[in-house]
Amino acid sequence: MSIKQGIFITFEGGEGTGKSTQLSLLANYLNTQNINNITTKEPGGTAVGQELRKLLVCGDKDKFDPIAEALLYYADRRIHLTDKIWPALNNGTWVLSDRFADSTMAYQYYGYNKRVAKDVLQHLYAITVGNFKPDLTILLDIDPQIGLARSLKKAENMEIKETRFESRELEFHNSMRTGYLEMAELEPKRFVLLNANQSIESLHQEIINVVKERYKLS
Ligand code: TMP
Repeated sequence: MSIKQGIFITFEGGEGTGKSTQLSLLANYLNTQNINNITTKEPGGTAVGQELRKLLVCGDKDKFDPIAEALLYYADRRIHLTDKIWPALNNGTWVLSDRFADSTMAYQYYGYNKRVAKDVLQHLYAITVGNFKPDLTILLDIDPQIGLARSLKKAENMEIKETRFESRELEFHNSMRTGYLEMAELEPKRFVLLNANQSIESLHQEIINVVKERYKLS
């Protein structure tokens, strides 16, 4: 008997694009279609990952050497894959993840102005993830000035401030956005690029239209 594989969908984008809101709205839609699904995120999709998340998203923006930082994101990713993502997919469950490996390429390569060589990150991907890839990556694009303002406003109400990357200069965020757009152009079958500067409901409609068409849902 063959194992029914679930579908792996990732949400990507800069700060303040509304990824997590859209991810939970998509999960609600999948529930109406009786599709088993889980929602998760990087960093921090597992208990150990939560510890790594605190290190990675809080505190001084320059506290890590960029390669050390990439290794920590990949350590989180490996645990996430082995303990959560792969078992769920093997069970036929769809997995929706708020960020995955494209975030490392966008932030640690493009964001840091290519201070970490691309092939270092590609090697880390091969070691950690192998040939596995998301089935679909929804890239939510927004002008970083608008996204950062949204994100910093949201952080005002947070007890623990997860603003390590928000505190980076605009140039970092602009390079990262260019990087994401380049990645989407290189893999047009996997990526769907959507404008995040629109209402929650209209963006949700665009996302479910993509998913309905791709997976023949009603
Ligand atoms: P979040 O704010 O979307 O939850 O993401 C956490 C932060 O970590 C965000 O600023 C992006 C950053 N990040 C990286 O720099 N590299 C990565 O590989 C991942 C997954 C996230």
